[in-house]
Amino acid sequence: MKIFTIFLHSHHEARTMSSKKKTQQQPEGPVPIVAAGHSKKVQLEEGKTYFWCACGRSQNQPFCDGSHKGTGFEPLKFVAEKTEVRGLCQCKFTKKPPFCDGMHRDPSVLKTYNQQLLRRNSELVGEVAAMKRQMQLLTAAVVAIAAGATAFAWHRSTR
Ligand code: FES
Repeated sequence: MKIFTIFLHSHHEARTMSSKKKTQQQPEGPVPIVAAGHSKKVQLEEGKTYFWCACGRSQNQPFCDGSHKGTGFEPLKFVAEKTEVRGLCQCKFTKKPPFCDGMHRDPSVLKTYNQQLLRRNSELVGEVAAMKRQMQLLTAAVVAIAAGATAFAWHRSTR
């Protein structure tokens, strides 16, 4: 059984995973976020310069919005050769960046995408639980303040 490590740059955490198949190995270095499991058709204008997001963190996919700062990724600058509609990669694992080459259907990319979605889901579950705890504390504080105010008013009225 082969052991390998995936460096998840977004969370600065290293994970050790076991793999039975060599084909499931991940590339070394920071792993991009899979922005979407499909390409995005974009109207390109001949001679115009574009910056394709390579990290997967941009909120303006498939183009860079500066969110890559500190991730080790840089956007890919390219100039459109002609005016046309092209499918740009959003999974970030294409071997022909910035264009889609179908890698979003590759089992290794789908596995990475699923792992990232599951991790984000568990992060959201943790955030919701923390918010619930804060709400409970706030509710308890409001009840205590209301009880104190009622007691104070009753004490003053009985003097
Ligand atoms: S935001 Fe992804 S490369 Fe810039």
